[in-house]
Amino acid sequence: METKKIIIAIDGFSSCGKSTFAKAIAAKLGYIFIDTGAMYRAVALYALEHGAFARDEVNRERVEALLDEIEISFRFNPERGASDIYINGVYAEERIRSIEVSNCVSKVSSIAAVREKLVALQQQMGRDRGVVMDGRDIGTVVFPDAEIKLFMTADPKVRAERRYKELTAKGDSVTMEEILENVISRDEADMTREISPLRRADDALELDNSYMSVEEQMAWFMEHYKRVVE
Ligand code: DC
Repeated sequence: METKKIIIAIDGFSSCGKSTFAKAIAAKLGYIFIDTGAMYRAVALYALEHGAFARDEVNRERVEALLDEIEISFRFNPERGASDIYINGVYAEERIRSIEVSNCVSKVSSIAAVREKLVALQQQMGRDRGVVMDGRDIGTVVFPDAEIKLFMTADPKVRAERRYKELTAKGDSVTMEEILENVISRDEADMTREISPLRRADDALELDNSYMSVEEQMAWFMEHYKRVVE
């Protein structure tokens, strides 16, 4: 008998390893992995490149006007074992991860029209279930009926170190201080924004992975998964 397909919603703070874990779960279960942070980053990148920012301030009307011309899609990249993001058919996976985008994405993700557009797209992507989706509002807004909801946390310093290693390995010149500042300010912005703030859904399981390997997290998750699908 085929196991029933479910939705696994993973929310939590930035740089908690949500995407790494979500990707590993998707590979193990043969599910589709959807990184919703990448979608907000894509809109932020497009907004940056199309004059919607002046002196770090966002022009909301300009972003709203740009929304209609942004088409976001994912294409599976076998080398990475995950999907790369495309904006209007143009590869954008690497550019959306820059510190410039990280610094302005909260301003874009707090705009109601942006959230409406992306939430609708995410709901459509998960309509056949069999997806692992990570973000900030998946278990609360996008799929409140998800069969499994995880809320991930980790010590901010541990998170900043992980991000630092990731960026410097790619050759980005960043300092630990600016990364830690970015992690803390994004936590704050995510939790205090008016629309869909980051919060743990009442029925979400909390996972603090500060000192856990992906293997340990997976063992913990699989115990729970088996109980849900059996
Ligand atoms: O997961 P990430 O750090 O790549 O996400 C980038 C930003 O997008 C993050 O600062 C918060 C925002 N975001 C959001 O508001 N809602 C989501 N579902 C996913 C991300």
